[in-house]
Amino acid sequence: FSLKAYNTFGIDAKASYFLEINSIEDLRKAFQQETHPKKFIISGGSNMLITQDIDALVLHINLKGIEVVHETEEDVTLKIMAGENWHQMVMYTLEKGYGGLENMSLIPGNTGTAPIQNIGAYGVELKDTFVSCEAMDVQTQTLKTFTKEDCKFGYRDSIFKNVVKGRYVITSVTLQLTKRNHKKNTSYGAIEAKLKENNILDPSIKDISNAVIAIRQEKLPDPKVLGNSGSFFKNPVIDKETFTSFLEKNPNAPFYKVSESEYKIPAGWLIEQCGFKGKRFDDAGVHKNQALVLVNYGNATGEEILKLARRIIKEVKEVYGIDIVPEVNIIK
Ligand code: EPU
Repeated sequence: FSLKAYNTFGIDAKASYFLEINSIEDLRKAFQQETHPKKFIISGGSNMLITQDIDALVLHINLKGIEVVHETEEDVTLKIMAGENWHQMVMYTLEKGYGGLENMSLIPGNTGTAPIQNIGAYGVELKDTFVSCEAMDVQTQTLKTFTKEDCKFGYRDSIFKNVVKGRYVITSVTLQLTKRNHKKNTSYGAIEAKLKENNILDPSIKDISNAVIAIRQEKLPDPKVLGNSGSFFKNPVIDKETFTSFLEKNPNAPFYKVSESEYKIPAGWLIEQCGFKGKRFDDAGVHKNQALVLVNYGNATGEEILKLARRIIKEVKEVYGIDIVPEVNIIK
């Protein structure tokens, strides 16, 4: 069974067995059956690089539904099933006039995987609207609720990437959105510029979403056209000492101050400076408008993309002495 249509990188890896999961009961049964002891979960497939065939029963999470669980004059709490496409869900909330997700428009993938890496864009992260999520324990097949505190969210990070990795399958996510007095965030330079360009002084949540969509379309390749997984690397966070000497040598480099002792350098800038932007090696390449994104021109294998990633990591380390690490989950 080819997984090409199930991962946004468009890697043509094979799964030994494949099962569509349409209900919690399907998921429970799948984990209870012993014919294929190895299971592998795939959801939106937007944050993974598959580097070889998957010798397991692949479970495709297709749980659907959006439900209002609580509502006041001020806000609304929605329970969203894991298989709901993230962007379509964001569009649905905006049509209803709910605020909170507008800056995260057009992020590929499904809602259920959003907590794993605390997705974020343009100054807003999932954790800002997150209430809880429900997940199935793969050992006992019981459902467990994880509160925001339980999730230990960090920059593109959560408990699901560390302590409990592989132990749970997220089945739904509960978010609290505003119905009025929206907390609009237009501080990100690119958003400000886009709103100005369109002469919008007092943007609605829909205007912000439209600005984000326009920015993303200019910079990020559409996975349906060109296989990719968004940012392939995380932006490195370096200590003050390393930062000071870095800035001395590179006075024009962009950076964000994370805290008194930590600074974040855009990996896209480092990669571009190393000459990789727009480069192509057979069918594996670095996107021409955003060096942080690796792309599959059609028939690249996961190994080829990984080889390119390793080459970039090595070069950035040699030139800047900075380690960059993949943001995407590399399946080996
Ligand atoms: N830059 C370059 N060259 C490049 C790319 C970026 O010089 O090829 C410079 C830009 O000029 C800018 C800075 O790097 O000064 C930051 O670039 P950008 O605003 O595009 O954001 P980013 O840091 O590269 C992060 C997220 C994106 C998110 C954007 C906007 C990570 C790993 N990536 O990218 O998230 O959309 O900010 O908030 O944190 C994703 O995770 O898949 C993703 C796309």
